[in-house]
Amino acid sequence: MLSSYVCSDPNTSRVCVVMVGLPARGKSLMSQKIVRYLKWRSISAKAFNIGNYRRKANAHPSADFFALSNDEGASLRRLAAQEALNDLVSWMDKEGGRVAIYDGTNSTKRRRAWIAEQLSQHNIHPLFIESACENDEIILNNIMDVKTTSPDYKGVDPQTAAKDFINRIEVYRKDYESISSSEMISYLKIIDAGAQVVVNKVKSYLESHIVYYLMNLHIKPRRLWLSRHGESEYNVLGLLGGNSNLSERGMMYAEKLPELVANAVGDQPLTVWTSTLKRTQQTASKLPYQQIQWKALDELDAGVCDGLTYEEIQQKYPEDFAARDENKFEYRYKGGESYRDVVTRLDPIIMELERQENILIVTHQAVLRCIYAYYMDVPQEQSPWMNVPLHTLICLEPRAYGTIETRISANIPAVSTFRAKGELPQHQEPDGQNA
Ligand code: SIN
Repeated sequence: MLSSYVCSDPNTSRVCVVMVGLPARGKSLMSQKIVRYLKWRSISAKAFNIGNYRRKANAHPSADFFALSNDEGASLRRLAAQEALNDLVSWMDKEGGRVAIYDGTNSTKRRRAWIAEQLSQHNIHPLFIESACENDEIILNNIMDVKTTSPDYKGVDPQTAAKDFINRIEVYRKDYESISSSEMISYLKIIDAGAQVVVNKVKSYLESHIVYYLMNLHIKPRRLWLSRHGESEYNVLGLLGGNSNLSERGMMYAEKLPELVANAVGDQPLTVWTSTLKRTQQTASKLPYQQIQWKALDELDAGVCDGLTYEEIQQKYPEDFAARDENKFEYRYKGGESYRDVVTRLDPIIMELERQENILIVTHQAVLRCIYAYYMDVPQEQSPWMNVPLHTLICLEPRAYGTIETRISANIPAVSTFRAKGELPQHQEPDGQNA
């Protein structure tokens, strides 16, 4: 497992990912994604944005503030860089942080040598990530994003903001030095948003994994569609796990799903991913798209509790029932899995989803909660308790600063399989009566 491997190897336990690149190269977006991904994998991660520290001294600088020849600007920027680095080190020392992201332009050899030197004094290994992009379309998109979202341009007319930001990029460009292998540092250089990548001296497992994650990212717009399988015969009986068929209402959902998807997706081609279990495949059976089955999408394995109701589990294994309520993410069913185990086996699914464009996943409650938690940045302790109703299509649309969610109900009744923390197990029929 990524997290236990990291903990067991002191040499790789503290990594600082240092972003490098001109403004509008997607550095902050990458920083946020790395943090979200690592937290999802139970690795404490935090981003430190140098611009946020600089804004304390100068909230709305003009473009020439960023020239190396501007003494006042250079001194304030050095101070901001130092303050951000101090906080980063202190977070690692005091809060046990494992991966810090140092988000800034870090655009000269001198600055990078300074960063490497400072970090080495604290036994933190730097991994430099340079986003080098000269593709006008990508840069323009980023400029549009920045001018509408950056605090530097709050309240500024968008055209003025765009002009100033373009000037700022040109000022930075004058002193910019791309990373070269002569700097003797670990780095990944991503050219034109992944059209080409260069990897140098990346050795540790954790660093390779971060590099692999970044190599899978693409920036094309995409939407991810998620659905639980239709109501199953086991759902109706309140039983966990198994490999049962859909109930009658579940089949109604399968019949309605193509129309629901077509209305929401339009003409776009989709690929449907299901688990290897009958209920997801039956749910997807009427969809007119290419289908792929993944074992990794199978439901959380309830081990000795497979085929039991919650009431039976509470009676037969009261200590386990209580332990699961206490820490549902970590609790592993005897002979089965925990939510943590499911996250681990979903890692390749997330990597593949980052590479793909339009995917519809038909899967199970626990698995869907874990995938949803990755996209929506849901903390681990909350994700196993989320209510994800049956017979509902969820659309997730990742954007630069967060993911937009839409839920479309098929309006076909189904039992509720949701159980809130601390509540007695209740099996809810669609008409609201307890079964
Ligand atoms: C900024 O001040 O906005 C960025 C600082 C930097 O160049 O890293």
